[in-house]
Amino acid sequence: MKQRRLILMRFVGAFYMVFLAYTTLVAQQARTQEEIDKKASAFLDDRKEEWRYWNVPYEDGKVLYDLIIKNKYQSALEIGTSTGHSTIWMAWAMSKTGGKVISIEVDEGRHKTAVENIKKAGLADYVDAHLADAHVLVKELPGPFDFVFSDADKGWYTQYFKDVEPKLKVGGCYTAHNVSNTTGGADEFLKYIQKLPNYSTTVNAASSSGISISYKKAE
Ligand SMILES: C[S@@+](CC[C@H](N)C(=O)[O-])C[C@H]1O[C@@H](n2cnc3c(N)ncnc32)[C@H](O)[C@@H]1O
Repeated sequence: MKQRRLILMRFVGAFYMVFLAYTTLVAQQARTQEEIDKKASAFLDDRKEEWRYWNVPYEDGKVLYDLIIKNKYQSALEIGTSTGHSTIWMAWAMSKTGGKVISIEVDEGRHKTAVENIKKAGLADYVDAHLADAHVLVKELPGPFDFVFSDADKGWYTQYFKDVEPKLKVGGCYTAHNVSNTTGGADEFLKYIQKLPNYSTTVNAASSSGISISYKKAE
């Protein structure tokens, strides 16, 4: 009887220790995410009016952030980093879904500034920033991706899509910036993707320059 009570007490003690360790871990993780949120949102709010290198407006960055969180995406590709505004929005979302963004920029100065900005926003762990020509690297990256943001040279938009498409998961989402522009090639891309039967495409109404949002429904 005494021995049984001893075993029971040991069992309760062990259970309590595991429970304590688990709740401490959960609290630590919550605190870490809280710190990430605080730093990223402060960085984005402070710099709101200071993006100069064809960066997306604040509201468009938020559209990307919301899409990633809503769909729990974890492997994003961005074509056209510039100095990192949209990358930071996507990376912040990835800090919540447990994913990562690969971003490509061909201009060395802008790539360097982007890396610094991403670090200042506290999001370096969620980004692989590549200094490269996306015409080449997009073909080479293995994927798979569940989210793509195309925001580099508009004349290549359709080709970027053709190169990434086989690596985009079903249920994934392909977005492109400036599709409301009637010159430069983004409009051609929009017409192309709107005709594809395995994609469902809308254009975000809140964005002044137009973000196309295309969900892949089937292979
Ligand atoms: C509109 S800006 C990107 C803005 C960025 N997405 C943001 O919101 O912060 C387009 C960027 O694409 C880059 N770009 C243009 N052609 C490229 C290429 N072939 N490979 C990689 N980057 C390219 C440009 O240097 C430029 O910085």
